[in-house]
Amino acid sequence: MAELIPDQVSKTYIIKITTVAALGGLLFGYDTAVIAGAIGFLQEKFELSPVLVGWAASSAIWGCVAGAMVAGYASDKWGRKKVLIFTALLFFISALGSAIANDLTPFVLARFIGGLGVRAASMLSPLYISEVAPAKIRGTLVSVYQLAIVLGINIIYIVNYWISGYGTADWNINYGWRYMLGSETIPAIIFFALLFTVPESPRWLLKKGKDLVARDILKKVNGKQASEIETEIKSTLNEEKGSLKELFGKRYRMALTIGVVLALFSQITGINAVIYFAPEIFKSIGIGVESALSQTILIGLINTIFTFVALGLIDNAGRRNLLLVGVSGMIVCLLGTGLCFYFEIFEGPWLLLFILGFIASFASSLGPIPWVLISEIFPTKTRGIAMSVCTLILWLGVILITQLTPVLLDQIGGAGTFFIFMVNALILLVFTWKFVPETKQKSLEEIEKGWRENDLIKMENR
Ligand code: GLC
Repeated sequence: MAELIPDQVSKTYIIKITTVAALGGLLFGYDTAVIAGAIGFLQEKFELSPVLVGWAASSAIWGCVAGAMVAGYASDKWGRKKVLIFTALLFFISALGSAIANDLTPFVLARFIGGLGVRAASMLSPLYISEVAPAKIRGTLVSVYQLAIVLGINIIYIVNYWISGYGTADWNINYGWRYMLGSETIPAIIFFALLFTVPESPRWLLKKGKDLVARDILKKVNGKQASEIETEIKSTLNEEKGSLKELFGKRYRMALTIGVVLALFSQITGINAVIYFAPEIFKSIGIGVESALSQTILIGLINTIFTFVALGLIDNAGRRNLLLVGVSGMIVCLLGTGLCFYFEIFEGPWLLLFILGFIASFASSLGPIPWVLISEIFPTKTRGIAMSVCTLILWLGVILITQLTPVLLDQIGGAGTFFIFMVNALILLVFTWKFVPETKQKSLEEIEKGWRENDLIKMENR
């Protein structure tokens, strides 16, 4: 009986830490997707030209890119937790600022600040979870972060829908969008307050020589294995320098390549083209507004359900296998979607089935896995900077797709657009097959040693 108690304590402790950190993902999804419901009203309120609408809609994403290396450096210097708290403040300021803006400039500025927050959260939340989690369930716990992103997107869709249905068109133009953006303050305040109840990352603490505090946290999370893990972490910390130069050097070149490729291809295989443009795509082929909306909601539902599938499988089936199966599914469904457009098969369920199949395949693999892998394949000393580089590429991918999708749909049509995504998915499949190692159930230190001894690729789980 006595043996059971530490495990039970650590379970609730780990779930609490993960949930709090994952709220960063919820804000990420919420704050990026809010604009979909608000943009039409904003356009009328400020009488925006199409170019300015583009600015209003994308200002947060530009903030994500501009935040580039800062969050990484800051979190390596001041700690993961402190920077996360600062991130929550950015979310709050952005929400309030954009909700009370009376002109486009302050609005864009406030959204840009929110983008900095999204950017920081998009790397710090998974990084922090990964550094606290026990190796055995690390994949599942980091995937909770992806689940939170998806939930954030779905919640704000419902909130937007509810707010816009509440008042008249006039009310919406003057106030509706303000409530939509202002509603972001609620998760921001909750995130801010709860962050004070979680500990700093034990790996970061050890790196800073704060052994006593780190030991305490490790004990709570890892129970009896704590001292073993502490020794392992320390041994890797002593051996590594952790400079940016080293990250780009020969030893970690492959890790960086894998991180960058996964981050980029998670975007250029088209997920956000579907998530952001689904209603437009459905409307363009003659599906009515009402059913376009319900099909969009269906997409959100499938996205959520299949993220749970990933959660259940990632630490058993493994990252690599899940990725191979999921990306193959994406290829089939992208081909099917492209063919539907090519032969104009818009009657019957086929197009919707292929799109939902694509979402399901993505959600159970390429949705969470890049976040998991980029949070675990780098050495602790450079993890912050390395994740900054990878997430920068990811956000550039988001921009590329959001800017290019409407152009592609217009110029080469649905068939061409989805075939391009399919070719990208094929390239990713080959890359995964050849280069992505299996990291399930390995401690971060084992992975680190794997790179150093150059045998990670040959690890037994492949
Ligand atoms: C992943 C992607 C993100 C996308 C989301 C949708 O987190 O990185 O861009 O919006 O999945 O589920």
